[in-house]
Amino acid sequence: MEELIAAARAVRENARAEFSHFKVGAALETSDGTIVTGCNIENATYGLTICAERVALFKALSDGHRKFRRIAVVAPPEAPTPPCGACRQLLWEFAGDLEVVLANLTGETGRHRMGELLPQPFDARLLK
Ligand code: THU
Repeated sequence: MEELIAAARAVRENARAEFSHFKVGAALETSDGTIVTGCNIENATYGLTICAERVALFKALSDGHRKFRRIAVVAPPEAPTPPCGACRQLLWEFAGDLEVVLANLTGETGRHRMGELLPQPFDARLLK
């Protein structure tokens, strides 16, 4: 777990957060133990911002990973910084009932499961 949080903390330094100045790092662990990282990327139109969690998820999916164990998310505030609604939806759909470990620059701030963070989800099962 320390390794996962350290990876999220390190990739956070790459964040392109020129507008919010709120740098976030995420590290997603696959079922074979691979760690795929991501940071938030903002741009001048603001609305096209992609959160650290989605960058990590899309990188992992694009590399062919399909099964995931947990994700660590690191952001500066003392209070836990949980994934936004859009990230919850995508993490649920592509990674299922993932363990979500929240941390800041000094230590862990919380642990959750996606099923708890996104109760009553809409997903492909409902499209039948
Ligand atoms: N952000 C993330 O990357 N992940 C989160 O869990 C919360 C918010 C980013 C989006 C934006 O670049 C900045 O933090 C401020 O909202």
